[in-house]
Amino acid sequence: MAATGSEKQGAKAYYVSTPIYYVNDAPHLGHAYTTVAGDVLTRWHRQRGEKVWYLTGTDEHGQKIMRTAEANGVSPQEWCDKLVEEAWKPLWEHLNIANDDFIRTTEKRHTDRVQEFVQDLYDKGEIYKGGYEGPYCVGCEEYKLPGDLIDGEGEYAGQKLCPIHKRPVEILKEENYFFKLSEYGPKLLEFYEANPGFIQPESARNEVVNFAKQGLQDLSISRSTFDWGVPVPWDEKHVIYVWIDALLNYATAVGYNENPAKFEETFPANVHLIGKDILRFHAIIWPAMLMANDLPVPGRVACNGWLMVGGEKMSKSNLTGIKPQDLTSHFGVDAYRWYFLRAISFGQDGSFSWEDFTARYTSELANDYGNLASRVAAMVGKYFGGALPEATASGEAEKAVQAGMAKAAAEADRKIGEELDFQGGILAVLDFVKQVNGYITEQEPWKVAKDESPEGQARLATILYTAAESLRAVAVLLNPVMPVTSQALWDSLGAEAPLGALADQRVQRAGEWGGLPAGVTVTKGAVLFPRLEELKKD
Ligand code: MSP
Repeated sequence: MAATGSEKQGAKAYYVSTPIYYVNDAPHLGHAYTTVAGDVLTRWHRQRGEKVWYLTGTDEHGQKIMRTAEANGVSPQEWCDKLVEEAWKPLWEHLNIANDDFIRTTEKRHTDRVQEFVQDLYDKGEIYKGGYEGPYCVGCEEYKLPGDLIDGEGEYAGQKLCPIHKRPVEILKEENYFFKLSEYGPKLLEFYEANPGFIQPESARNEVVNFAKQGLQDLSISRSTFDWGVPVPWDEKHVIYVWIDALLNYATAVGYNENPAKFEETFPANVHLIGKDILRFHAIIWPAMLMANDLPVPGRVACNGWLMVGGEKMSKSNLTGIKPQDLTSHFGVDAYRWYFLRAISFGQDGSFSWEDFTARYTSELANDYGNLASRVAAMVGKYFGGALPEATASGEAEKAVQAGMAKAAAEADRKIGEELDFQGGILAVLDFVKQVNGYITEQEPWKVAKDESPEGQARLATILYTAAESLRAVAVLLNPVMPVTSQALWDSLGAEAPLGALADQRVQRAGEWGGLPAGVTVTKGAVLFPRLEELKKD
């Protein structure tokens, strides 16, 4: 297995990155999907007590951005500044993304280091000058292999199209600098073999291994027909290929050649989260670049599947017309963060529908989870004046709940923290919520309450303690996914005074029974998941 955070020595940070996004337009549901997944993963590891570094940012050079800026009549830098400040950063804030840094590839801290990295490769003889002619897709910012192209139809009849963007490729002929990628094929294959967990999921790993086995071509790493990029330091008529520039963000943002202590403590990433469209860049080119410069390679490259619209990857040109904010204003930010990870198995493609989101919200969040929290708080208020009673009469039914809680916590920690199986981890917790609901239905505390004998009251106290203590674990385990509602539950349980801040609760200990002490003040807070307003049907 590849190294993971817990295997790193000493005070190494658990370092997770998102792709840095092209700022040719505002973020859409697909971008937010990757970024929320990374946020949940890093919040999970923070709650394990690990040092964590979560990086996101924007990819601002290259022809695609340059042409968009031109079409909008502004300079590329102005275009990027506007989009980053008005669209990208505000969305991450709105979605409660707790990134530790935000790198922009037009920042000097990045461009200087990119030049140094490439200069080092040049000095080592890893880069040479040569010519290349081939089909290029500006959407991908990539030369395509002729065999990868598809035949155009309709308005594109007779032309060759990029299989991802479904637009004609351009034939580029340039004198460029080349990186000797072809020499790294055997070394990469050896590395994949020794680190079977490096590429996730299995299908992505197979694709990369098969591709590398066919033999790699050297990679053109400079462009001379436009100038929106980082100049090649020894030949300023060229700019560095946007993908080389972009991949290096993972190093420059954590102190490469600038802050050795920070770099040492953070690099390389434990997990690069990416969409499968950019797999080869991350699983072939990036490790080869690092090997060539004697730097350590990342622990894992994990692909999420695509959010689809009408059978195609959701992209700028085929959006649903639904913005992340349209969904958060209807369902709330927490439910938004939860929905895509809950509904789609990570690594698989999935699609969004209002109907599915509404049905899951109503049954799993509002009815199962929200109702449990409000019922328990209401009963502790009604029968015990809000002071959580002690459990003195536990029996088989309580043992089953305790075992369910331990299992849910262990499963969630393994699935989310290790396997990046967000759906499985969330389901483990929601199944436990179902179990506790079933327990209350069976125990019928409202009937037990009528028995005023000491035994009856002891049973009532035990049932309500059991339910409240279960909710404590649920709040801790769902906090990385839904931080706002988990905090509301934490407050309602009066847990902060005896146990401290929710974010400081350890996920790996959440399943240990008895954390919430008797005597805490339980209050009925705001409803966690309000009923949804009727959707307006157009
Ligand atoms: N700038 C490059 C990445 C450089 S990383 C060194 C790039 N940017 S992008 O904006 O086009 O998209 C990046 C990522 O956004 C995808 O890899 C994926 O993680 C996410 N997604 C974009 N559309 C998506 C979907 N429809 N579905 C799921 N994820 C999507 O490529």
